Amino acid sequence: MERLDKIISKCMNISRSDASKKIRSGEIEVDSETKKDPSEKFDENMSVFSSGGIVLSYNKFIYIMMNKPEGVISASEGKDETTVIDILPEKIKRNGLFPAGRLDRNTTGFCLITDDGMFAHEILSPKRHVEKEYIFETDNPISKENLEKIRKGISTGGSVFRPCEINETGVRTYDIILKEGKYHEIKKMAHFAGAEVIKLKRIRIGSLFLDENLKPGDARILKREEVLKIRN
Ligand code: URA
Repeated sequence: MERLDKIISKCMNISRSDASKKIRSGEIEVDSETKKDPSEKFDENMSVFSSGGIVLSYNKFIYIMMNKPEGVISASEGKDETTVIDILPEKIKRNGLFPAGRLDRNTTGFCLITDDGMFAHEILSPKRHVEKEYIFETDNPISKENLEKIRKGISTGGSVFRPCEINETGVRTYDIILKEGKYHEIKKMAHFAGAEVIKLKRIRIGSLFLDENLKPGDARILKREEVLKIRN
């Protein structure tokens, strides 16, 4: 059972206070009956919610793909810093959103933002083996020997990194597929090989690629079939 204002804010992607206003002004029906009390509780899976006769679909959780720009932190709150939540377009903002996993301040690309804690936990758990693919550029080249070592798994900077896929794609550019999410993992791996990462972009989570139509800072709500692609 959930309060009506909370349900309507999720259905319409509006704030709780805007949802309350709509309810009080008689714009919302539950099972075809106008309801004016925002605190009244309903079973969101059993009742039909509508506005002016048009049925609203209830999304308990939302999943957002952002093309994270540089200089923004992937956290829900930052003291003096701008977060990925701060730059979300107003029309898709709602309470409880957080980034699932951390990208460093200067890392760009696919940042998944959701309010579904279980889902976030699942895709971040090393046990689930959800792949994350990145492309990156370094200041110095990484030798073939070091690429092979990284591929087989290394212990460096106080962390143990499991075997992964890493390939050279051009001059000092690489593609890497990881299944665990450790702090500064790619930077530490490059460091191990005597190189510094100068550009890093996440391009895939699970089997869902970053939508290249999203400009840095843009975000959009994922469709159901896209969310399913993240999991497998
Ligand atoms: N590895 C890093 O070093 N930084 C990131 O942001 C992601 C992976």
